Amino acid sequence: MSYNFDTVRDRHSTGSVKYDLRHDLLPLWVADMDFPLPDEILSAIKKRVDHGIFGYTMTGPSYWNALDSWCSREYGYHVRHSEWVTVPGVVYSLSIAIRAVTEPSDAILIEQPVYYPFSQVVKDNGRRLTVAPLCYEDGRYHRDLKAFEDAIKENNVKAFILCSPHNPVGRVWTYDELAAVAEICRRHGVTVIADEIHCDFIRPGIKFTSFATLGDEYKQKLILCTAPSKTFNLAGLQVSNIWIPNPDLRNRFKKENKANGYNEINTLGMTAAEAAYTMGKPWLEALKEYLEGNISYVKDFLAKNLPSVHLVEPEGTYLLWLDFHGTGLSNDEVKERVEKEARLWLDHGDIFGEGGELFERINIACPRSILEQAMTRLAEAFK
Ligand SMILES: Cc1ncc(COP(=O)(O)O)c(C=O)c1O
Repeated sequence: MSYNFDTVRDRHSTGSVKYDLRHDLLPLWVADMDFPLPDEILSAIKKRVDHGIFGYTMTGPSYWNALDSWCSREYGYHVRHSEWVTVPGVVYSLSIAIRAVTEPSDAILIEQPVYYPFSQVVKDNGRRLTVAPLCYEDGRYHRDLKAFEDAIKENNVKAFILCSPHNPVGRVWTYDELAAVAEICRRHGVTVIADEIHCDFIRPGIKFTSFATLGDEYKQKLILCTAPSKTFNLAGLQVSNIWIPNPDLRNRFKKENKANGYNEINTLGMTAAEAAYTMGKPWLEALKEYLEGNISYVKDFLAKNLPSVHLVEPEGTYLLWLDFHGTGLSNDEVKERVEKEARLWLDHGDIFGEGGELFERINIACPRSILEQAMTRLAEAFK
């Protein structure tokens, strides 16, 4: 099957957060894609729409079988329906998880720079934010395990929110890196809330390890957050699948979820997710090849036209982390040039917290022509 990712489809006036909030900037910020679903998934949604009745909905065996086949084939673990909870979003699940496993003013650890709702959701729930900064050395990120463990000990941390693969720095944590984190958290009784939403975007030659596969001893205090929304561009259909193998923990999560008043899954979200997990693989493979081309394009473009900006080599995700330290400009000057001169909407690095200054995050999940336009504007602004 062949798929066309080059066609530009106008997303204005569709209620798109990416396109309709501001019309003066070319938007390559929020993490959704400018690509429509393939026919095989769309036709499943259309068939459900044609049925015409959208009453309260629940998942059944075909949904869980589709998820199980996907998870066992792609990540090496099996899905037992009874251990999973469906919720409308991963950020929603982080909030529920925080309330389920911690008390007000308990400390929760995150690693910055990181997807900004992590810190927001901790603060919004009245918990204490603790940050272990990631280390950036020789153009690459890693974790200082001693500092990570010290942060847990010194702050009496109760839960850790892991971003794996990491948005925005693009790391796909190795088995050894994750095993070390898992062991530290186990030793100190810290619950791991693992956000694996980007796990289907792994670059060639890189291996993704799911926290679910690290060993039984690490499953007792684990809340694993997954979703088809990044993989298949379904964010607007609001479906996430959360795995909580420990029954006590799962019941606490369910209780908070119920207290929030959430019950049934979105009808079209469920249909789309099942179709995507069943039939979406060829499209995803073609998409990843296209995104690989976009990454090469950005790399070549920067080398030729804007060598003062360094691309942090991504191992996964479709979000690139650009380092502007080499421009010699201040953080505010970089932001101003991106917005006022390049007229681009990128996510400024400082919103991702400590260590994010002088970086910009660019979403490359768009037709090449849009990316070319964005990179040309960027080069002109920073000439
Ligand atoms: C790491 C991470 N988690 C969660 C989300 C959002 O998930 P949801 O839309 O299901 O709340 C994003 C979106 O960019 C993300 O990058």
